[in-house]
Amino acid sequence: MGNGDAGKGMRKGLTSYGDEAFSLFLRKAFIKALGYSDDALELPVVGIANTYSAYNPCHGNVPQLIEAIKRGVLRAGGLPVEFPTITLHESFSHPTSMLRRNLMAMETEEMIRSQPMDAVVLIGGCDKTVPAQIMAAASAGVPAIEVVTGTMLSGSHRGVRVGACTDCRRYWGMYRGNEIDEAEIAEVNDALVPTVGYCGVMGTAATMACVTEALGMMLAGGAVIPAVAADRMRHAEAAGARAVAMAAEKLTPDRILTPKAFANAFRMLLAIGGSTNGVIHLTAMARRMGYAVDLESLDRMGRETPVLVDVKPSGRFYVGDLARAGGVRTVLREIRDLLHLDCLTVSGRTLGEELDAAPAPWPQEVVRPRANPVYPEGGIAVLRGNLAPESAIFKQSAASPDLLSHTGRAVVFDSLDDMAKRIDAPDLDVTPEDVLVLRNAGPKGAPGMPEAGYIPIPKKLAQQGVKDMVRISDCRMSGTAFGSIVLHVDPEAAVGGPLALVQDGDMIRLDVPGRRLELLVDDDELARRRAAWTPPEPPAALQPERGYLRLHLDHVEQAHLGADLDFMAPPVRGKVP
Ligand code: FES
Repeated sequence: MGNGDAGKGMRKGLTSYGDEAFSLFLRKAFIKALGYSDDALELPVVGIANTYSAYNPCHGNVPQLIEAIKRGVLRAGGLPVEFPTITLHESFSHPTSMLRRNLMAMETEEMIRSQPMDAVVLIGGCDKTVPAQIMAAASAGVPAIEVVTGTMLSGSHRGVRVGACTDCRRYWGMYRGNEIDEAEIAEVNDALVPTVGYCGVMGTAATMACVTEALGMMLAGGAVIPAVAADRMRHAEAAGARAVAMAAEKLTPDRILTPKAFANAFRMLLAIGGSTNGVIHLTAMARRMGYAVDLESLDRMGRETPVLVDVKPSGRFYVGDLARAGGVRTVLREIRDLLHLDCLTVSGRTLGEELDAAPAPWPQEVVRPRANPVYPEGGIAVLRGNLAPESAIFKQSAASPDLLSHTGRAVVFDSLDDMAKRIDAPDLDVTPEDVLVLRNAGPKGAPGMPEAGYIPIPKKLAQQGVKDMVRISDCRMSGTAFGSIVLHVDPEAAVGGPLALVQDGDMIRLDVPGRRLELLVDDDELARRRAAWTPPEPPAALQPERGYLRLHLDHVEQAHLGADLDFMAPPVRGKVP
């Protein structure tokens, strides 16, 4: 057993025993316990990241996907080897899945690095999994291809189509407002998630799937196929086969993840009316490649990229309908003139070549023509001002038009706990014109920047029929949520950002057309408040003194840098145009 062709297949990354031939001898002896022949062990190895967990229903079809990917790898002459990684589901990640996105990215990267594989197929789906995997792939530098679990089907409640989780919030709002009773909300609960797969509206999961296809890290057509469709399995098989070719071609992520590819992904994010979380995740991915994201350019792109996809929460349809309308390629075709068509994709062809090879368009209603958009500008506006010196994000396509320019009195909640305790208090001093402020909920403050920015309308106002108010926080919002909501206020309150200095009764001015967010308090008064400010303590129950949380608290960066850990990205070497 020689050690020729070192650095390939099972010879890759040998364990250190001081004698390479012995290391390979030992590795093969062990893997033969699983029944492999010497011939099989000579094949190029394709790792398959298995993110199945009984805690992750969005990944409920991963076992079938693995079978399909293996079929593809084998027919292309490779050896498929699946391996487990962390998986994250939104509802089963206390206190928030975002706290562990970077952990998943780090763990996935290390598993790709430490185990012998010539290429890797990553199976993501639920919100944080795809960004974590692309961040991992970017850093690991091994040829990588993303497969997503696909969208869940929509459900039906008393004849009305429903889907997670825009309708979860809509019906919960109706329940809080006494519009529906206990029995009906229980029925709704049964109908919202009728199949496995990622959420069926343009939330973070669908957003990340679409932007990953636009980035070139997924085979064309793969983003939005339903999880339970036969096409989903055929796509996975094709990805497995393609991974073998990528290994031979040494098609590493750095050839795909270029500044122009990220610009394409941001265009897609805007055109689909995607989740605001996409801004943070794309920024973190770009920085893993050494590219800085300038939020000014995102805002500029936003002004010239209309929202075209008529899918909830900005529109009427569900993600499965987008699949029937041709998926991401239909969107790309509409914004073709705004894209960098020469970007390479995992197929080995450029984005432009993929578009040329796509099936001809057919009549459909889900992706609007540029002349008749869902929203004339991109869904996401970038705000600045004395309340957000670095930046803040506003999803204008999901906001009430009459609140885009609004001045109101601040009603401040000091933490998530404080908000939970007081938001529904009958004596809360609040009117519909006020501005709800939640702070200490950012990357460090919460910690983990939870999706709590969709601050509930105080019960006493909800019961009067109030559906929307201006809300401001340093946390994130689920992509499935809607409302006039300022997010990612940066710097966050917990590191001394101006949000920490707001007091009840201060006036705040939101001016989305002018891209401003101002606290109308004079500088001397703010300086006095700053001198008296002390940083909040992280919640003791989370054991901030030890373990991964300690690492997070010591190293997490602010939102405008992608909220990655500060030692994970290389020095900046370029900028996303
Ligand atoms: Fe997994 Fe929505 S909870 S995608």
